[in-house]
Amino acid sequence: MAYSDVCKQSLLYEGELVPAMVDGKEIVIMWPDGGKPKAYEAACPHEKVSLAKGDFNGRILCCIAHGWVFDGHSGKCLHPEGWKMKEYPMRIENGMVQVDISGE
Ligand code: FES
Repeated sequence: MAYSDVCKQSLLYEGELVPAMVDGKEIVIMWPDGGKPKAYEAACPHEKVSLAKGDFNGRILCCIAHGWVFDGHSGKCLHPEGWKMKEYPMRIENGMVQVDISGE
C-alpha cells in the first residue's frame, strides 16, 4: 500500500464529483448523496474517455462520450450492465484525502 495525498478533505462535498491527479494518473472522487466518497480511475471502462468531465447529479454519473451510466455509490455500470469503474483504496489522514493506486 502506498497512499498519496490528493487534496484537502474540505474540498470534497456530498453530491459532487472531484477530478484529481495521483502520481500522474487521473482519478475522480465521487461522493453520492447519502453515501460516502470513493476514489475511481477517471478513464471510462468503455473507450477510456475521462469521466472527470462526466455529468454527475449526486446519484448517477453519465459519460459524455457515449452515455454510459454509472451508479454513484458503487461505480457499477447501470447501462449497459456488466461493467464497473475501477475503484482505488482511499482514506482521510490529518484532513488530507489520500488514495492508493499502487495496485495497478
Ligand atoms: S467512453 Fe464512456 S461511454 Fe464510451
